[in-house]
Parts: sequence; C-alpha cells; structure tokens
Amino acid sequence: MSKEKPKTTISVIKADIGSLAGHHIVHPDCIAAASRILAEAKAKGIVVDYYVTNVGDDLQLIITHRRGVDDAKIHETAWNAFQEAARVSKELGLYAAGQDLLSDAFSGNVRGLGPGVAEMEFVERPAEPIVVFMADKTEPGAFNLPMFKIFADPFNTAGLIIDPRLHGGFKFEIYDVFEGKAVIMNAPEEIYDILALIGTPSRYIIKRIYRKSDDEIAAVVSTERLSLIAGRYVGKDDPVAVVRAQSGFPAVGEVLEPFAFPHLVAGWMRGSHHGPLMPVGLRHAKCTRFDGPPRVVALGFQIKNARLVGPADLFDDPAFDETRRLAQTIADYIRRHGPFMPHRLGPEEMEYTTLPSVLEKLKDRFVEVGPKAVAPKVKTTMLTHEKKEETTE
Ligand code: F6R
Ligand code: MG
Ligand code: MG
Repeated sequence: MSKEKPKTTISVIKADIGSLAGHHIVHPDCIAAASRILAEAKAKGIVVDYYVTNVGDDLQLIITHRRGVDDAKIHETAWNAFQEAARVSKELGLYAAGQDLLSDAFSGNVRGLGPGVAEMEFVERPAEPIVVFMADKTEPGAFNLPMFKIFADPFNTAGLIIDPRLHGGFKFEIYDVFEGKAVIMNAPEEIYDILALIGTPSRYIIKRIYRKSDDEIAAVVSTERLSLIAGRYVGKDDPVAVVRAQSGFPAVGEVLEPFAFPHLVAGWMRGSHHGPLMPVGLRHAKCTRFDGPPRVVALGFQIKNARLVGPADLFDDPAFDETRRLAQTIADYIRRHGPFMPHRLGPEEMEYTTLPSVLEKLKDRFVEVGPKAVAPKVKTTMLTHEKKEETTE
C-alpha cells in the first residue's frame, strides 16, 4: 500500500516592530524575544523548524511546519512573536515600536493586520533547495521584474530553453491590489500581456508562480500593502518571497541572476522615492544612506522533513560587488534630483505629502490665466509604418 507523502509548508512572515536609531535596523533583543516564542512553538510541535533574522528594520520569521498555508495556529504564533518583540521594543524605547501591528486583537490570520506573508505548501523533492528573498525600503511589486526574468526570460534562465522540465513555461498569478482581483496568465504565450500589467508594480503584483506542466508551486510573494489595509499610508510594505530552485525549477544561479541588475524600485526615504535595489549579505542589510538605498537579502536553505538546513547568505559574494557599486552610482545620480520626480514618487504613491495643505494655503492666490484643460487620461500611442497616431481614451 503506498503511503501519501506528507506536505511541508514554509511560511515567511515579517513585520516592522521598531528599530534602533530611526528606521534602519532591528535590535538583537527583539530577535531574541521572537526566537523564544518560536522555540516554545517548536517544543510544542506546532512548528517543525524556524529561523529568525532581520533585514533592515523588518523582523523576519522563516517557519516550516505541516499545517498548510493560512493556518490559524501558525499565524497566531507569528503574531505572538511580533507582539513579544514589540513589547521589548517598547521597553527599550526603540523607534516606531510596534509600527506594523495595526490591531490589538488577533483573529485567526495575520493577513490584513500589518505583517507581510509569503507561504507555500508542497511535497518535498528528494532534495528541496529554496531561496528566501527579503527586502527593506520597498514594496511587493519590486519583485515583479526579477520574478519575470527568472520564470519567463530565456536570456536570464537558460533552463527555459535547454532543460525539458522547464521548457513548457510557467503560470503567473497576478494581483490587482486596488481592485482586490487576481488573474492567471501563461508564459511564454502571454508575456506581452503579462508585462503590460506588471510594468505597473504599485498595482499589479506577481503573487504566485506555478510550473505549467504539473501545476507545482514555484514561487510566492507577499502582497500586503499597508496603505490599502489601513486605508491610509502607515509604512512601506517591505516584501518577502520564496522561490523553489533546481531539478525542474530555475537553478539557484538563475534565481539570483536578475538581482545583478539593481533596478529602480519605489520606497527608500519616507517611502516616497525611487532608488536602486541593492543586493546585500545579512551584515549589510541596514538602510543608512537617505534611509536606504533599498536592500534585498537572499537566504538559501535545503528543506528536509520540514527542517530548515542552512542558511547560505547568497548575496554575500564578491560576484555582486559590481552590482552594489552600480547601485551606489545610481543612488548618487538619482539623489541629485532632490525633491523632483522621477526620484520623488508621483503624488498618488507618496507616503508623505504636504501638497493638499500647500494647495489649500494658496487657493485664494491662484488666479485665472487661461482656459481650463481637461486632466490628461491614459494615452495610447499607435505606431504604424506611415504615421504615428495618438489617441486618448
Ligand atoms: C521608509 C522609512 C523611513 C521613514 C523616515 C521618516 O519606509 O521607514 O524612511 O519614513 O525615516 O520617519 P518618521 O516619519 O518616523 O520620522
Ligand atoms: Mg520601518
Ligand atoms: Mg522596513
């Protein structure tokens, strides 16, 4: 009689519960406090294994267990770990203590309460390598570009062309976080349509990726946007992601390769600026320069019988030195724009703005000087051989 193999769940749950000296780094005592709660949960058999760390001012809980995604007990454990870390944070008088814990009452699931969550459940392969990405001072859509390159760009991922197990392509589940809707799209067939959406990373966010040939889960991204949860902006929703690698999935090197390009993401100072995403090892995961630039850490683990073996600190490697140098150059360049767009985000994306109060103050001083223009709408530009046609709709 064949026994069904048990499933393993990995849950990466993070929250900003306060920082030492501003918004740049978690205090070690907060990490210790969260670890204590997880150690208790491990002793009780609720979680199988855990790893606690921080990336910038975000406390990161990497948890493995057998309880599936969205499990009330696991979410409660994570919530208690954040509460305990926030208590220590308050005791030490840390800055913005308890910032992401938006509610005092836990009701079965941390989603919607402030913490960011990326979870997936699978039957372990004989060897199960995964990469956990954790970013600070940016938003979940920051993973759109690298995820697309990993799972849909053959110039990044050689396996899409030369490995028969990847050659069928991947399915992308994309969220519209404004409308609260999701759509599943196929790569490579629909890559132009996929890019038409995910090129607007503040709204259309890659949530999950599946291998098309057998629907195996390949990747998951946290998509919480604190601004939308609270109805107002209460902090950047620094994202996390989990990617499965090797043997039928992209190789670890293919998974890391997109981060060799420090692409521009939204976040940085006051959650209101574009800046380069700098890949760093854990020891450099602290956002000091203009509260940034935005950082991303990649930790590699093997999962065996739901135990976490590792981590390997994957960006702590001279192979990413030139990326970091380029990110510094880009940071220097874009900083010189000061308060001007496109360094500063557009008004609808800013975490802070004085614009309404400035406009209010000036409302009697603005004088009529000409005809009113209709506010610009979405522009579609059609290029043909003969002419360039411009229409608005
Ligand atoms: C961005 C971030 C920081 C703060 C900035 C001002 O996500 O956390 O850049 O926005 O340090 O912080 P407050 O308003 O707390 O003084
Ligand atoms: Mg913060
Ligand atoms: Mg943060």
